[in-house]
Amino acid sequence: MTPKRRVGVLGLGHVGLPTALGFAELGCTVVGTDSDRSKVEAIGAGVPPFYEPGLEELLERHLASGQFQALPEISEAVRRSDILFICVGTPHREDGSADLAQVEGAARTVAANLDRYKLIVEKSTAPVMTALWVERAIQRYGRGQRDFEVACNPEFLREGTAIHDFLHPDRVVIGANSERARSWLRELYEPLGRPMLITDRNSAEMIKHASNAFLALKISYINMVSDLCEAAGANVHDIAAGLGLDPRIGAHFLEAGIGYGGFCLPKDLKAFIHVAEEHGVNFALLREVGRINESRIDRFVRKVQQALWVLQDKELAVWGLSFKPHTDDIRDAPSLRVVQRLRQAGACLRLYDPAAAPEFRRVFPEDPHSLVYCSSALAAAQGAHAVLVLTEWPEFREIDWKQVRESMVLPIVVDGRNCLDAAALSTEGFEYHRVGEASLMPAGVKV
Ligand code: UDX
Repeated sequence: MTPKRRVGVLGLGHVGLPTALGFAELGCTVVGTDSDRSKVEAIGAGVPPFYEPGLEELLERHLASGQFQALPEISEAVRRSDILFICVGTPHREDGSADLAQVEGAARTVAANLDRYKLIVEKSTAPVMTALWVERAIQRYGRGQRDFEVACNPEFLREGTAIHDFLHPDRVVIGANSERARSWLRELYEPLGRPMLITDRNSAEMIKHASNAFLALKISYINMVSDLCEAAGANVHDIAAGLGLDPRIGAHFLEAGIGYGGFCLPKDLKAFIHVAEEHGVNFALLREVGRINESRIDRFVRKVQQALWVLQDKELAVWGLSFKPHTDDIRDAPSLRVVQRLRQAGACLRLYDPAAAPEFRRVFPEDPHSLVYCSSALAAAQGAHAVLVLTEWPEFREIDWKQVRESMVLPIVVDGRNCLDAAALSTEGFEYHRVGEASLMPAGVKV
């Protein structure tokens, strides 16, 4: 039996930490490191730097088992590993292109610590030809030690289900130039028993960008259909069901709402457009996808205005701040722009999110007169003229609408995620505004 190769993970963020612990769960010996020492120390003490379901338990288990170790010295982590996964951030620059400074930094650290053959794997989402540049950087900055290879193995981890996605991937994509690199990666992932696609490195890199851009495209498509539904009198939920039954289209990512956010879809879309332009390809289709997504915020705020008439001095309960449920991540969350717009319009906001309030507070500190953080959805609804739903946390669907109704000034709900039970709201006499559907009005109310 081949000995298990030692795995190293550079960068312990939303991709790196679940990846490191996922490999530990598969029985590998894993070391993880990050340029942020305080993060490494916290992880070493069993405290994950962000909320991700199941992560804390897995961290505790593998710190205890010794399968995972968080090392503050990056050089030591490099030296100890046979396979090194680069999982550092690739944020976007002003012009939309990917900022690869952290990737280059990781490559240079690897170069300075190469002591024997190592396989370097680019896992962060990066533009086509990044693996080639990582290879060049290691050659340039290495001290004559040239026994290494670079492969690409893009991640497809969704926040909120990252551990599950690591252990049950739809596919594992491996882009590598040599049989040794391919077989090392194949061996690592074999225990998962999932389909593996072996490609060249450029193709593997492009699969990732093309996947996220396509997901963004699907969302913007259904959002435009939703606008048409509102104008022409149809129901976007039914349209999505009708579309989704065609296996060529697929049922996922057809939920209309206030648009996509997060650290991946918006930035990957921009980066992919940039890559296309650099190669002389006009991908205007994707520009439009981004534009449609931006316009969701305007439409939503207009919807709130249409429901309430004047926003100045209205008390609005905002339910949900994270860019999607089961995460505390607010990066590029639609809530950021919605809250900004509502504040500009003079509304007083009562915010609630089961996980993301501490993060949101850093951007929008509490102001006793115009923006307060509440401890529950019900507390946020207290004295409100309307409830606005920005993230589809499951607890919002389960809430006792009678109690909500009793605590509000007006029974109005504007649901930016179409996630509530219309019948339950109707029973309590709510005026319920959804996306891509006719609003539900209590008996006797005319629109
Ligand atoms: C994404 C990709 O899905 C994952 O494969 C990748 O590797 C990382 O980026 P993530 O950013 O965690 O994952 O979120 P995702 O589940 O893709 O949702 C992105 C955004 O789209 C969220 O804001 C979500 O609310 C929105 N969305 C999703 C919709 O508006 N409608 C939908 O039908 C689906």
